[in-house]
Amino acid sequence: MDVPGEAGRRRTFAVISHPDAGKSTLTEALAVHARVISEAGAVHGKAGRRGVTSDWMEMERARGISITSAALQFAYGDTVINLLDTPGHADFSEDTYRVLSAVDSAVMLLDAAKGLEPQTLKLFDVCRYRGIPVITFINKWDRPGRDALALCDELTDRIGLTAMPVTWPIGQAGQLRGALDLAEGNVIRYQSAAGGGGAPDLRLDATQAEAEFGDDWLRAREEADLLLSAGGEFDLARFTAATATPVLFGAAVRNFGVRRLLDLLVDIAPGPAPRLDTGHHPRALDAPFSAFVFKVQTGMDPAHRDQIAFARVCSGEFERGMVVTNASTRRPFATKYAQQVFGQQRSTVDTAYPGDVVGLVNATALRVGDTLYAGKPPVRFPGLPSFAPAHFAVARPADLGRAKQFRKGVEQLGAEGVVQVLRSDRRGDAAPVLAAVGPMQFEVAAHRMEHEFTSPIRLEQLPYRAARRLVDPVQRGLVDSGARSEVLTRLDGTDLALFAEEMDLRLLIRRFPELELETLVAEGG
Ligand code: G4P
Repeated sequence: MDVPGEAGRRRTFAVISHPDAGKSTLTEALAVHARVISEAGAVHGKAGRRGVTSDWMEMERARGISITSAALQFAYGDTVINLLDTPGHADFSEDTYRVLSAVDSAVMLLDAAKGLEPQTLKLFDVCRYRGIPVITFINKWDRPGRDALALCDELTDRIGLTAMPVTWPIGQAGQLRGALDLAEGNVIRYQSAAGGGGAPDLRLDATQAEAEFGDDWLRAREEADLLLSAGGEFDLARFTAATATPVLFGAAVRNFGVRRLLDLLVDIAPGPAPRLDTGHHPRALDAPFSAFVFKVQTGMDPAHRDQIAFARVCSGEFERGMVVTNASTRRPFATKYAQQVFGQQRSTVDTAYPGDVVGLVNATALRVGDTLYAGKPPVRFPGLPSFAPAHFAVARPADLGRAKQFRKGVEQLGAEGVVQVLRSDRRGDAAPVLAAVGPMQFEVAAHRMEHEFTSPIRLEQLPYRAARRLVDPVQRGLVDSGARSEVLTRLDGTDLALFAEEMDLRLLIRRFPELELETLVAEGG
């Protein structure tokens, strides 16, 4: 099989957005365009959340959110699209960030009335950190919203990305009529196709557009020209270098702009590239099979506590049943049960190529960050970064008689990356501190401690909000001397300096200018 050819046909991306910007709607619209599903809502929309059964899903249903996430794969023309799902709930978890380690590009979805929102910014920070190219889709143009130029300025002013309009709306937000297609040099006329996705875009030339849209068309041209002459001309190199972002306007719920987005992904989004191993050597796409685990989900099926490890293929061809090696244990792993999972849908995966995601069922030995490979010599990809936790709680067993189960459970959850586990001399091993990016991680941890490890826990929140990496362990005493700060050590050996507020951090640095602290990934927001 022509592995580089197969890899070149793939586009693996995630949609990053603030809850309610329309990610589920856009996902469904994209899939409808590619005719994967016949009806919007079947993949993972609110309607699709009905009738779900697993433990997680009960929790999700109770809170109207989605924790489970994986990848949706569909063909669009000759291209294979892998759309990785980032959970859309209000509380962030590290899973959301880890998904971004498995994509080659991202679509940043903004609500036209709101622009950049806090969680869009946090996710964008991770994209920036990883150098992921971002396409911006400004959604809900069918509703009153902000001015198109102001939205583009916001991208430059707040996140330093030059906006390169690919389409430009004709008419203000709320008066969806059509859009200039600046790449094609014509006009897309809006046709109502809610839910259907089948209606082809109607294209108008300049004369037809002027006749149809009059002054709105002229104004759109002027605005777009303004942006283009101010450095907004499309430039593939700047997109790939993640210094500029192509911008499209649309309305996912009405299927407007969705096809243009798909076409843009096909045309400009990067396909899988050779991934660097821990020795900084690129792993050629046609080298023997290799993949890394970016997410582990437990308890997706209530009948048995199955665990699915989601791995992104980096090189070679995956064939279900092949025996691969887990680089961290050097032990063989048989890939008999390989699935694609998206929302409630599961299907067996027989073959996969770089860029694809394979869900390995009952992979209890696999951990987030693990590398799998076939053949020799061994290969190992760098582990995934741990993200800056912002929530901290001391965990204690509710039943002291179950101390052993408690220790085992906490260790397991830490190893899986459900929460980060920290220890302090002050509290000792009987009272580890759990750290999370989003508080929902605590709920998941408490749920699993009770039901899976039969050791219910009590959590006592700690008043810390900011964390930094303490570079030199000798300086621990400086941080511990503050009344509102302390140093805790993570299972991986990293010393984390915790502060009640950013202000406490600044005060301490002023007092001890020699203090060496490093920002962790995805800080702030
Ligand atoms: P999320 O996954 O990002 O959280 O957002 P979701 O797709 O669930 O969309 C949030 C709300 O925004 C939904 O309305 C959805 O219909 C609406 N929406 C998405 N895209 C557009 C758009 O282009 N235009 C308009 N006008 N609305 C859009 P809801 O009332 O919360 O739910 P529903 O009952 O309509 O499903």
